[in-house]
Amino acid sequence: MKDQISTPDFSHITSEDLNHIYEPSEDSFLLIDSLEKELKFIEEIKPEVCMEVGSGSGVVLTALGTAFGESCQYLATDINPRACHITKETGRRNGVTIQVIECDLVCGVPKEFNGKVDILLFNPPYVVTPSSEVGQGDLEYTWAGGVDGREVMDRLFPLVSDLLSSKGLFYLIVLKENKLEDIEKIMSLYGFGCVNVISRKTGPEHLSVLRFRKKN
Ligand SMILES: C[S@@+](CC[C@H](N)C(=O)[O-])C[C@H]1O[C@@H](n2cnc3c(N)ncnc32)[C@H](O)[C@@H]1O
Repeated sequence: MKDQISTPDFSHITSEDLNHIYEPSEDSFLLIDSLEKELKFIEEIKPEVCMEVGSGSGVVLTALGTAFGESCQYLATDINPRACHITKETGRRNGVTIQVIECDLVCGVPKEFNGKVDILLFNPPYVVTPSSEVGQGDLEYTWAGGVDGREVMDRLFPLVSDLLSSKGLFYLIVLKENKLEDIEKIMSLYGFGCVNVISRKTGPEHLSVLRFRKKN
C-alpha cells in the first residue's frame, strides 16, 4: 500500500461528457483528501471490497484503487449510464479494475456482496432544491438533493448496515445545510457511530466528510 493517494488521470473526459456527468470538483477532491488522511486507519481493517455509490467520473474510487491496488475488489454504481462507462474507463486508464453497475443507489448490487463491503463511499447530490428537481436529468442527478439536500442520501442510509462488513467504514460527503446532527441521529438508530473526518469551506459551501462505523 502507498502512504498517499494520487489524483487519477481523467484527461479522457471530454467537454461533451461534462454536459452529462459530474466534473471532478472540490467535493470529489475533499473525499480523496479524507481517504488519504484515513489511509493508515483503512489499511488496519485490511479492506477487500471497496464500493462507491454514484461514482460519476470514477476519480474517487480510482484514487482509492491506486493506493490499495489488486488487494481489493472495486465496485461502483451510478444511475447515469454515461457515468458508468466513464468510471470504468477512468479505472482502466489508471490500472484499477472497477466493476460498474448501472442502478439506483445499490439496488443492482449482487446479493453476494451483502455484509462484504469494507469501504463504502458516497458523494451524493446534496444541494437543497425543490423536490421536483431531484433526478430530472443527468446533471440534476449530480447535485439536486431536494428537501434539506437529503432526499437521495436518506434513501441510502437504511441500506448501509446490510452492505457493510462488521469492520466496514462508510464515508459520506455532506453540506452544512444537510443538518449533520440529524444525519448522525438517523445513522445512530441504524447502529452506526459517526466521526467528522474533515471539513472545508469552498466558496459558499461548507463541506464535511463523515465516517460511519458499526457500534459494538
Ligand atoms: C455529486 S456527484 C459525485 C460524482 C463522483 N462520485 C465525484 O465525487 O466526483 C453524484 C453522483 O451520484 C449519481 N447519482 C445520483 N443519484 C443517484 C442514484 N439514485 N443512484 C445512483 N447514483 C446516483 C449521479 O449520477 C452522480 O454521478
